[in-house]
Amino acid sequence: MSTHISVPPQMLLERILTLELVRVTERAAVSAARLRGHGNEKAADQAAVDAMRRELNKLPIEGTIVIGEGERDEAPMLFIGEKVGLNAGPQVDIAVDPLEGTTLCAKNMPGAIATMAIADGGTLLHAPDVYMQKLAIGPGYPKGLVELDASPADNVKRLAKAKGVDASAITVLVLDRPRHADIIQSVRSTGAAVRLITDGDVAGVIHCADPDNTGVDMYIGTGGAPEGVLAAVALRCIGGQMQCRLVLDSDEKRERAHKMGITDPKMIYGIEDMARGDCLFAATGVTTGSLLTGAKFRKDGVIETETVVMRSVTGTVRYIKAEHRQLEKFHLD
Ligand code: FBP
Repeated sequence: MSTHISVPPQMLLERILTLELVRVTERAAVSAARLRGHGNEKAADQAAVDAMRRELNKLPIEGTIVIGEGERDEAPMLFIGEKVGLNAGPQVDIAVDPLEGTTLCAKNMPGAIATMAIADGGTLLHAPDVYMQKLAIGPGYPKGLVELDASPADNVKRLAKAKGVDASAITVLVLDRPRHADIIQSVRSTGAAVRLITDGDVAGVIHCADPDNTGVDMYIGTGGAPEGVLAAVALRCIGGQMQCRLVLDSDEKRERAHKMGITDPKMIYGIEDMARGDCLFAATGVTTGSLLTGAKFRKDGVIETETVVMRSVTGTVRYIKAEHRQLEKFHLD
């Protein structure tokens, strides 16, 4: 049976899929949130994955998951190459992180989100789930002001000069990992502040786009590649700069990347290299963090969610607060 779609594909991506995307991340977030604080990362991740897959398969798209979690976590993931959707409508690339911050959710700590991005087919970076080096700043600076291969101290000084402030007025967000000791030391040597996060670098990068409100000027560090592509889509929508490089430090990883079309293992990717076409980004809060409020389960049975959804072509950013009254009834197939 074929589904008749009378809306032009470009309009579909904006007019229809914007809200559909919100539904997908909302359901994933609610499913994960039911398990927050249970100390079980895998169960929470699985719940988010199942809900996301179920909702994606209701969409009028021919979707392909091009980057997602799973290989690294060995979670029962939405795997790279998996086809989703009703097999009708536009061909789209999809990047997913059904539960970004599995540990944050398991420990009921701030900042866990359910997130995904959707883009014209063939326009998102296809990459294995490996680590990725990342550097990001917000909008309004000359292109190439900061560089992945410059030292963190240099990048801080360049940004401070361009912003017209002393380095001590710059804040750099870094994932709190032993592997980042040199980065932290280099940033601090300038007098700049380091803000450490335990997890969640999608939101971390997004914070750079609005330094006046978040107090974050720059993100530096190595995290997951899917999280990098998701953050790149968000910055394509709201502005900012990002430079990234996949960490392909073994023959096995280089081989996996090669199979996905990556011929230069040392390539530095800018935002447009990771997200070339029209794209949408959505994230729903699982636990309350500085980006989004987490899912709330009210005593009257209503579930509240908050989602941010953005689109690259228009740069529109929508915050959608929802009250779900009959989620159980309608989210089951
Ligand atoms: P998960 O939800 O997959 O646990 O990712 C959380 C996260 O903090 C990401 O935001 C980040 O990119 C990655 O983990 C860093 O990886 P690691 O925890 O191995 O240092």
